[in-house]
Amino acid sequence: MSDPKVNEIPIWKRLAESAEKMNRPEKHLKHLIKEKNRLEMFSLKGGGMFYDFSRQRVDPAGLELLFELADKRNLLGQFTDMTNGQKINTTENRAALHTALRNFSESPVQVDGRDVMPDIRAVRDAIQLFAENVQARKITGSTGQAFKHVVVIGIGGSYLGTEFVAQALQALADKRIELHFLSNVDINDFGRIANRIDPETTLWIVISKSFTTAETTANTRQAYAYMQENGLDPAAHTLTVTSKGSPGDDPSNPVLDSFHMFDFVGGRYSVSSAVGGVPLSLFLGYDIFERFLKGAEEMDLHARTAPLRKNLPLVAALISIWNNNFLGYSTQAIIPYASPLSKLAPHIQQLNMERNGKSVTKDGDLLDIPAGVIIFGEPGTNAQHSFFQLAHQGRPFPIDFIGVINPQYDKFQSKSKGVSNHQELWSNLISQPKALALGKDDADRARYFPGNRPSATILLTDLSPENVGRLLSFYEARTVFEAFIWGTNPFDQFGVELGKTLATEIRQEIAARNEDAGHSFNDSDPIGKFYLDTFFAGKI
Ligand code: F6P
Repeated sequence: MSDPKVNEIPIWKRLAESAEKMNRPEKHLKHLIKEKNRLEMFSLKGGGMFYDFSRQRVDPAGLELLFELADKRNLLGQFTDMTNGQKINTTENRAALHTALRNFSESPVQVDGRDVMPDIRAVRDAIQLFAENVQARKITGSTGQAFKHVVVIGIGGSYLGTEFVAQALQALADKRIELHFLSNVDINDFGRIANRIDPETTLWIVISKSFTTAETTANTRQAYAYMQENGLDPAAHTLTVTSKGSPGDDPSNPVLDSFHMFDFVGGRYSVSSAVGGVPLSLFLGYDIFERFLKGAEEMDLHARTAPLRKNLPLVAALISIWNNNFLGYSTQAIIPYASPLSKLAPHIQQLNMERNGKSVTKDGDLLDIPAGVIIFGEPGTNAQHSFFQLAHQGRPFPIDFIGVINPQYDKFQSKSKGVSNHQELWSNLISQPKALALGKDDADRARYFPGNRPSATILLTDLSPENVGRLLSFYEARTVFEAFIWGTNPFDQFGVELGKTLATEIRQEIAARNEDAGHSFNDSDPIGKFYLDTFFAGKI
């Protein structure tokens, strides 16, 4: 039997009525934040993180209704089903077990009656062995030189999470290895990397679950040609990370080593698999990768076992639904006051927007409320000097502020205006959410700040590998909780297919012209023909 649509259950109407009340003047955030025990009532500590939602435009009555909604949609039950290996990805008939990748317990996790944990552990062991052999110079390039450059070829979920974690933990990296990401098919990217590397000391990691992704295939071809032009055998300088049985999992195409990813892990969740494991272990060391996994495991456990009212990602998901579906905000910014987290927003952008950008329920009904939000972000204080004018006086959007108490580099302590750089950063972190919430009256309308602009503040003690894992798992769990509320399938992404199909047609046209200079584009639609003709003309 199919679930009722979320907006057809009675609680949805009551939530809409409650949200209506939030527009009253007495519900302005400048009043709400002065209420007794506001911070205590609207903040949570758990899974190694602190989550403050006291400056969200919600009151105790609205929050209670949101908990009722969570209960009605059985969010914790659905999360447990997911972690237990049930095939909740119904359109693709798959389990969704990214949590199993960082499960260090002895318990089995069954899919189709088979425990998947031994395979997961075997891949982790293989990653560790390979990374340690490279670090010990037991595995070198084909001319005997140690690897100094690792180039990751992969796109979307086969790239973004790894880049986020690599950037976040760069301070801990093995200084002898430089990590490069080649995701876009844009030849400028290949050229830029080729200019920085040395072929004999470069290891290429081709990461693709399907091994059919056009961008990755094209970049791999360029890499192979580059190695051959430099007199190297690509097989001795290339690793693959792919799913069992993919075109890249072909023993007749030899590589230095190959690592499997699993069909029960979606691309956007795959940083905890060999997708992240291989490059991160080479760049940071396997032990750091494992610490990252263990932090994520702690937040996974929190998300699964903490009661509704104490559950950080679940409450964050409720707030997100409230902001999106009831208060009408369609955008969400993620602003870490920590530059090492600069790739968090691009990663969560894919995670959340590919996962939750849906218009159909898992039962195949059209969803008649908006799901998904537009996510963007930059580190503070850069963001303040970029788009915070809009945040304060233009179109409002909810913001996740992220603060890290202890920076990765603590020996640079010069003071300006009486404070260190890190203290200056924190002065801004503390003041921005306050300014957005309170606003400021001014007879001069150009200097008037309306306030009442919602935000959450997330705190981490430091950017340890564990905390980066916790943060990742928090956003992953929040994303699936949102989907569980909407009743959408957060594990498929058919929305990216149409554009790819059309690109195939255009590619065929271009290939035909490459073969035959007389090939005309007359069969294309007039707009398509114009662009193809212009492209081949080489000028506007
Ligand atoms: O285009 C979206 C997507 O399918 C993502 O979901 C995926 O992470 C990415 O492309 C790359 O896919 P693959 O790992 O198969 O190369």
